[in-house]
Amino acid sequence: MFERLNTPQEALNYKLGATLKMEQKVLEILDDNIEHAQDGKVKQLLSSHREESEKHVGNVEEAFRLLDWEVDDSSCPAIEGLEKEGKAMVKKTDDALVDSVILQGALEVEHHELGVYENLLINIKAMGRDDVARLLHQNFESEQGALEKVRALQAEVAAVTPKQPA
Ligand SMILES: [Fe+2]
Repeated sequence: MFERLNTPQEALNYKLGATLKMEQKVLEILDDNIEHAQDGKVKQLLSSHREESEKHVGNVEEAFRLLDWEVDDSSCPAIEGLEKEGKAMVKKTDDALVDSVILQGALEVEHHELGVYENLLINIKAMGRDDVARLLHQNFESEQGALEKVRALQAEVAAVTPKQPA
């Protein structure tokens, strides 16, 4: 990849590589959390988002090909940080509370992913590549759907928290 980014195309190419790294890392995060989740509904939601995320990886790779760029990843320290924080929280947390912690981590990851796709879409549209934008918009919409499901399940899990007197 590039030493320095000197054109909008190089910057976008690099960012698309970081997106590929992000989606690959998300598969590992989901695998880890599926293993640690206690509730069947949580496991199920994470597993179905894992399937969607595999499709996201394929779409990002296809975006490289449509742009005639070599499929190559770039570093993405943000997702590594989210992974590290999530793992540390799961390790610290009692099994009775771990589903909430896992879903909180998932919600934060979804927001990060949505920000990444939002930026990509702005820059790809600016390049006049609506074909690539349409492809990556599928990932954006899928992440939005996942965020809503994670949010709803997180609220359901949190609802059993004993009320704290004022
Ligand atoms: Fe996601």
